[in-house]
Amino acid sequence: MKKLYLAQIPNGEPLHEDLFNSNGAILVPKGKIMTPRLRQQLLRSNIEYFWLDATGFNEVDHYLEHFEMETVKEIEEVRKVYTESVKSISNEFERMRKIGNLDKKVIEETAHELVESIGRHQQVYLGLEGIRRKDFYTYIHSIDVAVFMIVLGKSLKLDRKQQERAAMSGLLHDIGKTRIHDNILLKPTRLTDEEMRVMQEHSRIGHEILTKELRYPADIACAALEHHERMDGTGYPHGVTWEKLHLHSKMAAVCDIYDAITGERVYKKAMLPHEAVEFLMTIVDKHLDRSLTTQFVRNISVYPLGTRVTLNNQEEGIVVRLHDGYPTRPVVKVPRKGTVRDLLIEQTIMIERVHDPREAAVG
Ligand SMILES: [Fe+2]
Ligand SMILES: [Fe+2]
Repeated sequence: MKKLYLAQIPNGEPLHEDLFNSNGAILVPKGKIMTPRLRQQLLRSNIEYFWLDATGFNEVDHYLEHFEMETVKEIEEVRKVYTESVKSISNEFERMRKIGNLDKKVIEETAHELVESIGRHQQVYLGLEGIRRKDFYTYIHSIDVAVFMIVLGKSLKLDRKQQERAAMSGLLHDIGKTRIHDNILLKPTRLTDEEMRVMQEHSRIGHEILTKELRYPADIACAALEHHERMDGTGYPHGVTWEKLHLHSKMAAVCDIYDAITGERVYKKAMLPHEAVEFLMTIVDKHLDRSLTTQFVRNISVYPLGTRVTLNNQEEGIVVRLHDGYPTRPVVKVPRKGTVRDLLIEQTIMIERVHDPREAAVG
């Protein structure tokens, strides 16, 4: 996570990047010019620093040279829709935090845009999971959970309208966190038992906000209440068993766990997608049900865009394109040889090893 102090920003120059707060809300948008007046306003709200690149999309720029024109174009489209969604959702969540209300129309439109965009570029959405560095910002996590719920919903053959409702329940699943104090919500270290108890209240609070204050119907509000319930009844808040949960809650549980373990925290390293998939399979039948989790895992790009791999012919390469329905057979560019290997065509070539992106880059 990169921090930028207000004192480091000169007056009179347009900002090169969006500036985020610790929840993932955009405080000052890219292009805005810093003025003494704006500086005063920020200082009055006790804002002394910002986070940069909370969406993790800036990381993608380092990889663009490896990708084909078509993929680069798709990435730009996805980046646009994704960034717009972050702006909309963070604005509404901040309003909920400050004045206790939000615009339901914006939530609906965001869900609609995401469904349309994922309908066109699913592989890019999933593919970017390998490149984007995901720090854990509540608002961005809400978008990512909605993205995964749409992907899962599509594979469960939900129609567009149903995908949108699933997406809305995903966008809103952690809305209760807008009423959890920042001291707990943003605590950089592990929570104590008491803090954990307070944090866990977010599911009950979220459900109340959605049903009582915003009058959402049950299928959209359910995931807020039930996304931490587990198959064996060890979850919260009610410890109910899996059969009793709404489909959206089950979907949210799977997607929420996946997004949490693939995100970075101060006290833990993010799992790579193939590690996260393995982890999910270890909690199947205990915390999550087998058919839904398998369905989810089948759609996840185990070797997302930008993944550095060693092939069984010992060539080192980088994943540059994904084929729909064949997550283990991507297109791999081998920079040292100046060649591209399409594993869907070259069936004897396999991925032998996945490199951690924190290791040195492929030359
Ligand atoms: Fe949650
Ligand atoms: Fe969550």
